Amino acid sequence: QRPLRLAIVGLGTVGGGVIRLLETNSALIARRAGRPIEVVAISARDRSKDRGVDLSSYEWVDDMTTLAAREDIDVVIELIGGSDGPALTLARQCLAAGKPFVTANKAMIAHHGLSLATIAEKAGVALKYEAAVAGGIPVIKGLREGAAANEISRVYGILNGTCNYILTTMEKDGRGFDEVLKEAQDLGYAEADPSFDIDGVDAAHKLSILASLAFGTELDFAGVNITGIRHVIAADIAEAAALGFRIRLVGMAENGPAGLFQRVHPMLVPMDHPLAHVDGSLNAVVADGNFVGRLFFQGRGAGDGPTASAVVADLIDVARDEYGDPFAMPVASLLAQHKADAGKR
Ligand code: NAP
Ligand code: HSE
Repeated sequence: QRPLRLAIVGLGTVGGGVIRLLETNSALIARRAGRPIEVVAISARDRSKDRGVDLSSYEWVDDMTTLAAREDIDVVIELIGGSDGPALTLARQCLAAGKPFVTANKAMIAHHGLSLATIAEKAGVALKYEAAVAGGIPVIKGLREGAAANEISRVYGILNGTCNYILTTMEKDGRGFDEVLKEAQDLGYAEADPSFDIDGVDAAHKLSILASLAFGTELDFAGVNITGIRHVIAADIAEAAALGFRIRLVGMAENGPAGLFQRVHPMLVPMDHPLAHVDGSLNAVVADGNFVGRLFFQGRGAGDGPTASAVVADLIDVARDEYGDPFAMPVASLLAQHKADAGKR
């Protein structure tokens, strides 16, 4: 079988994890993909950086904008980050050139998912972003495929591993916010700019993506009402516990008669609710469907291993030519249908 040939752009926490996973589980991945997956080219900012993995057998590419035109590369994986800039340019170029594109970049998908999906649809290729929401939890596949036959009324959950790690560690051992944030950064959970985590923006990116998938509505990041955890102090956590609650950063979206409601904020969660027991870097997503009932997805929401696992799952889909829902986001034609259906109800 002809191998699926990759370029990986971005070799930090997630990029390094993807290379380690592809090397460690290569035989198993080839079996499940139906063909070998082969890294051809790699790119990042600093060629001389020690990344703890041997990269000498891969071609280093300084100019990532050359990748879209290369015939010896079948798929490009973007693990740089940032809603605009080089990640977005690369995505547009690759999709327009007919190359499937895999990304973990929730900021880019939340801001530009619809326009990228439209380019993908036109070119007839996949745009895959399982790793963009809730790290290793297969929640995009779960909603798009598993719950595909359901009307979903509400989707909510713990969507940021850094914040959950901070809140739960402060609660358990009483350490201060800044010290625990630094630890989350060292563990590879935080964004390059951690204010995206602690100010709730990262969770809002993810929530807007989930809402679009769950309800078939247009991505609306600007419509998310956001409050982060920057001002939560140890005394708040102790007071909440005394009243029988835990503090969690929760993202919640509903699509009701009044329209789309999307909100990210620190919430008092009763001790007997499953979200109160989601600890450390774990994430959880709850979705209510009209036939399936309540779905509860839980797993590690950040870090190299879980995120790489989701990226490589997308690659396996690409290798098998299994793209799931036509082009991953509700593109123009699907949005029009959704609006027509909503008008009839
Ligand atoms: P990271 O550790 O900061 O790595 C970013 C990589 O991108 C680095 O290798 C960096 O190069 C490269 N890079 C940055 N700017 C570049 C540019 N202008 N040109 C070329 N390369 C550039 O970030 P990460 O944690 O792996 O995250 C990557 C993406 O995955 C982000 O979109 C993030 O939101 C998403 N994500 C992360 C996690 C997680 O747990 N970390 C989970 C899910 C999704 P150098 O190494 O040479 O500086
Ligand atoms: N910074 C993100 C988090 C990475 O802490 O959840 C996973 O998307």
